Amino acid sequence: MTQTDQHKETVNRRSFLKKAWAWLGVIAGIEFTAVALNMFSSGKRKNAENASAFIETVGFVNDIMPGTVIPVKDGQFYLVRMADGGFMALSLICTHLGCSVRYNSEEKRFICPCHSSAFDLEGNVLNPPAPRALDAYRVFIDQGQVKVDTSRKIRRKKFSPGDLVYA
Ligand code: FES
Repeated sequence: MTQTDQHKETVNRRSFLKKAWAWLGVIAGIEFTAVALNMFSSGKRKNAENASAFIETVGFVNDIMPGTVIPVKDGQFYLVRMADGGFMALSLICTHLGCSVRYNSEEKRFICPCHSSAFDLEGNVLNPPAPRALDAYRVFIDQGQVKVDTSRKIRRKKFSPGDLVYA
């Protein structure tokens, strides 16, 4: 093999390696993009799934009579429909030390079995040591059904009329 032939072979090998590296770069870029897109779309899908996991459907508006209190144990709240038709969702966790309050239908109040705090139907403190009203959850009406978003508790000092949701 002459020196010129050796030089040509070296050039061909270099040129081949350059092209191979370029193609590998392109393939890696495509794979990276595909993985990133997949992660992004599955993240969005998981967020949507997570959000719906926190929505509790209590029932149809017309099936829940005014003056009704419905315990929703899975969601850890009571759905209250006031005499005027307004809805509220009250956390069943006592604001004193976190025991679960129970609804007393005769007295129309929530009573904590731990240290006897009591709360009215709007969640206001009737009897200490609870320092503030029961927390609430956002209620919304969707296609005639009452739904509660339990993803976030609404901390309140006391009831305000804006806490009620109407169909
Ligand atoms: S935990 Fe409810 S009154 Fe103490």
